[in-house]
Amino acid sequence: MAFIALLTLRDGMKKYILGIETSCDETAAAVYCTQTNTLVSQALFSQVALHEQFGGVVPELASRSHIEKISIIVNQALLAAHVTLTDIDAIAVTSRPGLAGSLLVGLCFAKALAYTQKIPLIGINHLEGHIFSVFLEHHVPFPHLCLVASGGHTALYLVLGFGDFQLLSQTSDDAVGEAFDKVAKLLGLGYPGGPLLERLAQEKTFQDIRRYPRLRRPDLSLSFSGIKTAVLYDLIARNYYSLEQRKIIKHDHDNVVDVASSFHVAIGDILCNRLNQAYQLYPDIKAITFVGGVACNRYLQGRIATLAQKNRLEFFTPAPKYCTDNAAMIAFVGSYKAAQGKFDTLHLDIATTAP
Ligand code: KG4
Ligand code: ZN
Repeated sequence: MAFIALLTLRDGMKKYILGIETSCDETAAAVYCTQTNTLVSQALFSQVALHEQFGGVVPELASRSHIEKISIIVNQALLAAHVTLTDIDAIAVTSRPGLAGSLLVGLCFAKALAYTQKIPLIGINHLEGHIFSVFLEHHVPFPHLCLVASGGHTALYLVLGFGDFQLLSQTSDDAVGEAFDKVAKLLGLGYPGGPLLERLAQEKTFQDIRRYPRLRRPDLSLSFSGIKTAVLYDLIARNYYSLEQRKIIKHDHDNVVDVASSFHVAIGDILCNRLNQAYQLYPDIKAITFVGGVACNRYLQGRIATLAQKNRLEFFTPAPKYCTDNAAMIAFVGSYKAAQGKFDTLHLDIATTAP
């Protein structure tokens, strides 16, 4: 109860929210000012180099690395904002969904700061962070459709207001970023696969050479494991991949470029088809937003922007640094939750799945 009494922002000061994000393989912190509605600073350490050799995120290594970096990154964000911990009025921290060990590092660190500074704690849904990441740079009209596409999640939301959104559909198997990463791995490329495949696909100007099949179901269902399997069978049939050795056996740049290019077109078709169907169901929407790590993809941005334009809808996507995991979006969600009086106690726990 004593803690609840502290759950109001200090008056007479600039209102600063410290955001902390450690749900996967990025250790990030940011300071957001609720009086000026601006992001003041952000700092980030990416673990990509650590996980690259394994072709994906290794949870145990991720949490150890967060422990090493968290206090450094938080300090960097405070220094860059020219504030100290005593200026911070609330701490917003990703508490779900994500890797358990990674989430625990951020949450325990945030709890320790909240307790010692006697300031409120706000647990943030990482997906809500992605959904509202566009607001760091744009004012998007409500209601709008939001496509979240990252390495861990792919989902469509109807967004009605700040903190007010409905899940319309989510992938039943792989996330779209995971499909990019797995196809890159099949081709013997590095990690993360998305940017590597995009660069290769540009060489063939995104032509649909291999014509991978796509499910064109008359609903909002999302699934990306089938397209990854189609790529695998195509590589096996062309004697590029050995199932026995579980690796690419014939290295041929043209083949890799053809796969990357065709894969992009198929993913673009699937995403646009689902967005179009969602628009038919919710014709009152005013805009489409495309967020998450995969939203860095210029080809997919272009496809969705064209779809939006055809339907006279606005289209928004964040700058790449706000598409991939970051603490700015967490601090921003924290800012409106603080305004709405939505705080948590020190009993807050992590959850590995979305609510
Ligand atoms: O949002 P994010 O940083 O982390 C998760 O919450 O998962 O997204 C990472 C994912 C990876 O799967 C990566 O391959 C993908 O985003 N990605 C891309 C591109 N840049 C990153 N996928 C396609 N094209 C890109 N340019
Ligand atoms: Zn994410």
